[in-house]
Amino acid sequence: MIVDKIKKKINRRLNLIKDKKIKWEINGKLEKIINLTKEEIKEYKEEFDRSKILEDLQKKLEDFEKNITGKTYRGVDYKSGALSAEKALYIYNILRKTKPETVVETGVCNGVSTSFFLLALHQNEKGKLYSIDFPEIADTEYEPGDFWEGKGGSVIPKGKQSGWMIPDYLRDRWELTVGKSQEKLPEVLEKLEKIDFFIHDSEHSYECMWFEFERAYKLLSEGGILMSDDIDRNSSFQDFAKDKKRPLVYLGSKIAFFVK
Ligand SMILES: C[S@@+](CC[C@H](N)C(=O)[O-])C[C@H]1O[C@@H](n2cnc3c(N)ncnc32)[C@H](O)[C@@H]1O
Repeated sequence: MIVDKIKKKINRRLNLIKDKKIKWEINGKLEKIINLTKEEIKEYKEEFDRSKILEDLQKKLEDFEKNITGKTYRGVDYKSGALSAEKALYIYNILRKTKPETVVETGVCNGVSTSFFLLALHQNEKGKLYSIDFPEIADTEYEPGDFWEGKGGSVIPKGKQSGWMIPDYLRDRWELTVGKSQEKLPEVLEKLEKIDFFIHDSEHSYECMWFEFERAYKLLSEGGILMSDDIDRNSSFQDFAKDKKRPLVYLGSKIAFFVK
């Protein structure tokens, strides 16, 4: 019974790829904004399926759901924090089409989204992903204030590192920095001349999100993409886009991007 429940939860998260809605959304929006053709959408979907990345991650997520149970010190149930496959495929299409040189991501956790991004760079045979993560580790004692009080239950298992689910063959285009983005993002950006794609999925406080957007935007190339997940948590992304006079493109109710 419990196993069935877990399976249902995982399937909801990963099998969305088979949802017809995805074609509608991608055709309707991404085709217009980044000139993604129907042929490219088909090609990217086929290669995505051929990679078997969903199956690989699904197995790891099943293990996670079975073995990692409990609550954070804030009383929230542990979870993997993984981006849905639907969102992942949107971003995969964008990264394949735009072929960025430099991608920056905040919020890695177990590495589900990171795996999808790295697969796109691998297929592009181009680009590097710089990720920042301050992981909360399951079954570990923390002091109040170690994490933002609004944080959800995303954790990594004890003994693992951020991004542990990422397949080995994708790791050569990846650089991980561990620490809070408030401290580490400026350090990472300082090493880079420009960035072409930025995505936020770390601490969803207004202050942290605005801080990340502002820092990333400064280095974002013209035509580069600024994206955020969990934009329903506060109005920072909507406010930031307004401030920059850029129209937001929604890929769902919680995720959006704009082009600089
Ligand atoms: C929702 S999870 C990321 C999930 C990941 N993007 C995926 O789709 O698999 C958020 C991650 O950000 C981390 N985090 C929380 N606050 C942070 C901060 N201030 N700076 C960097 N990472 C933070 C969390 O511990 C967690 O690992």
